[in-house]
Amino acid sequence: MKIIEALQWRYATKRMNNTKIPQEKLETILDAIALAPSSIGLQPYTIFVIEDKELLQKIKPIASNQTVITECSALLVFAAWENLTEEKLVEYLKLIKSVRTVSEAEEQKMKSYVMPQLKNPAEQNFVWNCKQAYIALGIGLAAAALEHIDSTPMEGFDKTQLDELLELKKHGLRSQVLLTLGNRDEANDTLIKEKKVRREKEKLFIRLA
Ligand SMILES: Cc1cc2nc3c(=O)[nH]c(=O)nc-3n(C[C@H](O)[C@H](O)[C@H](O)COP(=O)(O)O)c2cc1C
Repeated sequence: MKIIEALQWRYATKRMNNTKIPQEKLETILDAIALAPSSIGLQPYTIFVIEDKELLQKIKPIASNQTVITECSALLVFAAWENLTEEKLVEYLKLIKSVRTVSEAEEQKMKSYVMPQLKNPAEQNFVWNCKQAYIALGIGLAAAALEHIDSTPMEGFDKTQLDELLELKKHGLRSQVLLTLGNRDEANDTLIKEKKVRREKEKLFIRLA
């Protein structure tokens, strides 16, 4: 499927039909999310993939009882790092060195722009980490559409309660946004037939050519 056709096909699915999506499609979507770009390539987030029905039942009331939470095949929880730590940044630099040939001078240069981030206020780093998580969400949404898998991006949940349930604090994480993956319930999702509502291209884009 071409990208525009796929994005026309997708919609924020309100009802899913409790069927499992093929494992290889789930893996493709996760691979796409893993390939999402992030500022300096840090990927300062962790994504939980939840398929356990009992756990989904517990999450539903935390997410305004949105039925799609328990009807989906998998729920992704995008959790941003609460802050940056020296340990995480050193791990990131090590990862680069394990994949690429990095000269001493290049390593020093990388350190000079990565390490000063530690001096930023924690909240500033957290906001930056959240922004990166949303890019990954966007890639996940597009990948799901291209795979013909339905999805719902969701902010309608109580972050504090979800963090408690998943014990995110002890891992230095805070939940930001959810993404359900599954198959639409054709009979019961009233949104299926609705047209897309989008601002006019002429208003959305200002071309300065
Ligand atoms: C970050 C984000 C959070 C959203 N939260 C919810 C949500 O909690 N529940 C829901 O049903 N839809 C949610 N939506 C879906 C939007 O309402 C939907 O994407 C928008 O109206 C455009 O419609 P479409 O995605 O069907 O084209 C969210 C979308 C985004 C991008």
